[in-house]
Amino acid sequence: MGVLGRAVLAVGMRPKVQRMITEGPGRRVAQRFVAGETLEDAIRTARRLNDEGFLVTLDALGESVTDPRAMDQTAKLYLATLDTIADAHLRSEISVKPTQLGLLIDPERCRRHLELLVERASEIGTTVTVDMEDRHATEHTMTLVCELSQRFPGRVGVALQAYLYRAREDLRRLLEARVRVRLVKGAYREPKAISLRSREDISASFAALATQLLGSTSYAMLATHDDHLISLCEREIAARNLAGETYEFQMLFGVRRKLQQQLLDRGHKVRIYVPFGDQWYPYLLRRLAEKPANLRFFVEALVRG
Ligand code: FDA
Repeated sequence: MGVLGRAVLAVGMRPKVQRMITEGPGRRVAQRFVAGETLEDAIRTARRLNDEGFLVTLDALGESVTDPRAMDQTAKLYLATLDTIADAHLRSEISVKPTQLGLLIDPERCRRHLELLVERASEIGTTVTVDMEDRHATEHTMTLVCELSQRFPGRVGVALQAYLYRAREDLRRLLEARVRVRLVKGAYREPKAISLRSREDISASFAALATQLLGSTSYAMLATHDDHLISLCEREIAARNLAGETYEFQMLFGVRRKLQQQLLDRGHKVRIYVPFGDQWYPYLLRRLAEKPANLRFFVEALVRG
């Protein structure tokens, strides 16, 4: 993330700015990246994407929850999401942020909830991928997914952030514990002491981890919109003659739609990460910070009023 991106995050987290944006034009900008505020909105989008040939992962937005009732509500919403996925025969899994379920405040509650979700996902033949959040959650999340994977082999995945120095060792642990790995660059603002900073270094780390992941027996989820890294993965897939059951590409809803279609046309499985819910603000900020050019939509929305 560049200087401008970090500035977007820093300014955007100020309560006054947040109020101005969420009560103003931000809602319209969010529609580009978020399926809607309700489960029904998400299901409609998932069905359309499935009809177009994409797989889906549904993400009920929310993070750093402090109220235990809200944690329980989130778990309930995810259970309802899994039930709807089953009833509607959707080709979808769920993505969950552990701090939504209380990871840093009530780890036992979080573990119980997550276990229930993975159990239900298992019953209906789908999977749960745990999003990786910032450094405060990294080790707790790693421990949790490795434990869960023992009880539900093949049903649990986690995002691995290539910008962290620890990523290589984490990949080793995840492969050993047979956790499905979603490789990402990393979206949070982490200190220099623990994370790479330059685009080149992060890309090189992603490339090395992708090569290792594709060479392993684990299911690989390659989550990037970066042309260079996608080409590298495609070359690796071709060289290893990998079957479609062993990997997939993943991209975010609303980001590089043409490229999503092109990958599908080239015969790859492509899963779209579809966020929904009213807690869309931090998610939107991260998308804006990744690509400050997106601020143009913002300014246009402001001008239109
Ligand atoms: P990069 O940011 O270099 O983008 C490559 C190109 O894609 C850009 O040049 C631009 O054209 C386009 N692009 C990228 N982002 C855009 C945007 N927001 N708007 C418009 N165009 C954009 N991170 C994390 O820390 N924990 C997690 O759990 C996850 N989970 C996750 C799931 C999935 C399915 C994806 C695709 C990504 C994540 N991420 C994540 C986010 C990830 O870490 C990273 O921040 C973004 O994917 C952006 O990095 P790229 O690899 O796409 O490259």
